[in-house]
Amino acid sequence: MSALIWPDAGLDEVPLPLSTVIATAAPIAFVGMAGVGKSAVARRVATALGVECIDIDAEVSAVRGGQSVSSIFDEIGEDEFRALETAALLDALDGACNGVRGRARRAVIATGGGVVERQRNLDALRRQALVVWLRSSDDVLADRLRSSSVRRPLLDGDLEANLTRLRTRREPLYRALADIEIDVGSATIPQVVEMVLSRLSAVEDPAQDGEAARDGEAAAVVDEVAGTGAGTGAPR
Ligand code: S3P
Repeated sequence: MSALIWPDAGLDEVPLPLSTVIATAAPIAFVGMAGVGKSAVARRVATALGVECIDIDAEVSAVRGGQSVSSIFDEIGEDEFRALETAALLDALDGACNGVRGRARRAVIATGGGVVERQRNLDALRRQALVVWLRSSDDVLADRLRSSSVRRPLLDGDLEANLTRLRTRREPLYRALADIEIDVGSATIPQVVEMVLSRLSAVEDPAQDGEAARDGEAAAVVDEVAGTGAGTGAPR
């Protein structure tokens, strides 16, 4: 599609291909394992599209007066953290969607890696967002996480073993949820941003595309995981 239009963010913005603008009508939510680059990519994609970026970990931290996610985990435990995470996600999605699918205010949302651990999050993301799953190998993730200054409590201890355990459990959920799946390998953040923008520009109408394709498939996978109790963490 060659037509260019100005996003309503303002005339100083760089014009975007029409299809990219259409693709951003629904909020764009990044999912994937810790260390894959969701937050950094989301920020840059939001800037490129001239829209707001909402980072769910940062929102949770903000409601706790700036407390770090790892310290929140230590103080109130995973269950309570997940409740705050769900509240922040629903807020972000509702704010972005204004309650009406397809008539969204634009936003890009970076979720935490464990967002798929709760059924309510899966349902809301499936209904209200265009979901982009960023994935990479455990080796690449482990390298990045080892040099990250951010502690992920669920990965404390044996990093590789914990990564593999969490990824194995979450992968079917990410896959079922994703409108767009991108294997980022060891690409740099700017390279991943390019990949994302290029895939977004190919999306004609996420409000139509995503839902029909995912509803059956994702629900089936989620039910299966929840029903069999596979692993220790079927979404709750
Ligand atoms: C978590 C991932 C973290 C953060 C928390 C739990 C997880 O977010 O929400 O430590 O369960 O994988 P990132 O994926 O942004 O690191």
